[in-house]
Amino acid sequence: MTHRAMPGRNLTDKYPELGKGPVSTVPYYDQAFFEKEVEIIFKKTWLWTIRESEIPNPGDYFVKELPTLKRSVIIIRGKDQQIRAFDNVCSHRGAKVVVAEQGCAQRFICPFHAWSYNTEGVLVGVPDAAGYFDLDQGKLGLHAVPCETWEGFIFIHPQDQPAQSLKEFLGGWGAAMSGYPFAKGTDRYHFQAILNVNWKVAIDAFPETLHVPFLHKDSVRPTLAGPRNPFGHLVDFVAYGPHRTASVWGDKEYVAPPVQGLAYAHASGPTIVGGRFSGQSNLPPGVNPAKSPNWSVDVNVVFPNFLVVVSEGMFFVHQMWPLSANQTQYNLKGYYPAALNGAQRFAQEYAMIELRNTILEDISTMEGIQSSFDAGVIKELHFHDHEVALRHQHQVVTGLVGSP
Ligand code: FES
Ligand SMILES: [Fe+2]
Repeated sequence: MTHRAMPGRNLTDKYPELGKGPVSTVPYYDQAFFEKEVEIIFKKTWLWTIRESEIPNPGDYFVKELPTLKRSVIIIRGKDQQIRAFDNVCSHRGAKVVVAEQGCAQRFICPFHAWSYNTEGVLVGVPDAAGYFDLDQGKLGLHAVPCETWEGFIFIHPQDQPAQSLKEFLGGWGAAMSGYPFAKGTDRYHFQAILNVNWKVAIDAFPETLHVPFLHKDSVRPTLAGPRNPFGHLVDFVAYGPHRTASVWGDKEYVAPPVQGLAYAHASGPTIVGGRFSGQSNLPPGVNPAKSPNWSVDVNVVFPNFLVVVSEGMFFVHQMWPLSANQTQYNLKGYYPAALNGAQRFAQEYAMIELRNTILEDISTMEGIQSSFDAGVIKELHFHDHEVALRHQHQVVTGLVGSP
């Protein structure tokens, strides 16, 4: 009898500093711990907002609400093509200058008393200016927010003087992923939900696939687990400072039923298996880090709240915005290449719904987990070797905030 090599064994051994013991559940429900997370993590780190392709032309803007920080930020492409970010706060009495979610503007006019600002945030108009006292308009522009771009992803930093550049922050992960063809994803879809869970519980549903054979038995089990990977092991895990990559197995021998097969045959965009990994692609070294022939997707967690899921020919993102210790705004955004024909459009719609349905399965366990934590019934978590990404998140967060 031959033993099949199981995918990606002993992942936790690669990172002895993570330990192997049980971890406390306190960081997942305690309000005081949550408030420290906001101060120590979310107010001091680079946070993803939108893609450059969402504001392609001069004057295009997007208003990004950052509920964890209780801030609203305008991200705008100027006439000079430069992308800038500003707090959406009028310098007169603090009204939101822009109420639309997105658009194209030559200038912004505050709806309250019509102070106006140009696309570079300069205060250019004050009705009845003579009635104010010693108004120095040159100092009353919109408050600039540090804003940098990596591979078309626009990040902002909540502090006026970030301690690190975005490139430094993304570190080894950013270097290993640079060159992925993100720019091909120009069309998008977006799902949003308020989940009654801690933000880390929501993240933890995605960079492990041990649950695939069970929770996803009616959806993606045959493609991401199945008889050749019965326990849903990963093919690899890589930690890059606070960031992490969970590399997911895929069954290359899977035969899709007719309609799914038609969708996969025409897919240029996201499918869950995505797959079709040729092993000869020019994808950057961070993609499929083990270079496994049985690879489907990588779930990348960019610390703290941004997940980028990539395969060959598709990507989608999740973002979790904590609202309280046990409530989170969840966002799923998928990015497609523009469909060239009806068959590709069908494949994209199919893939979008397939992904949505799978994620609804993921979400189905979350609020039950949170109630167990909130009730104090479960005090410790026992992570499997292939839940190493969850252990890593726990250690990064407690390393910054302090052990509970
Ligand atoms: S608050 Fe904006 S013009 Fe008054
Ligand atoms: Fe899942």
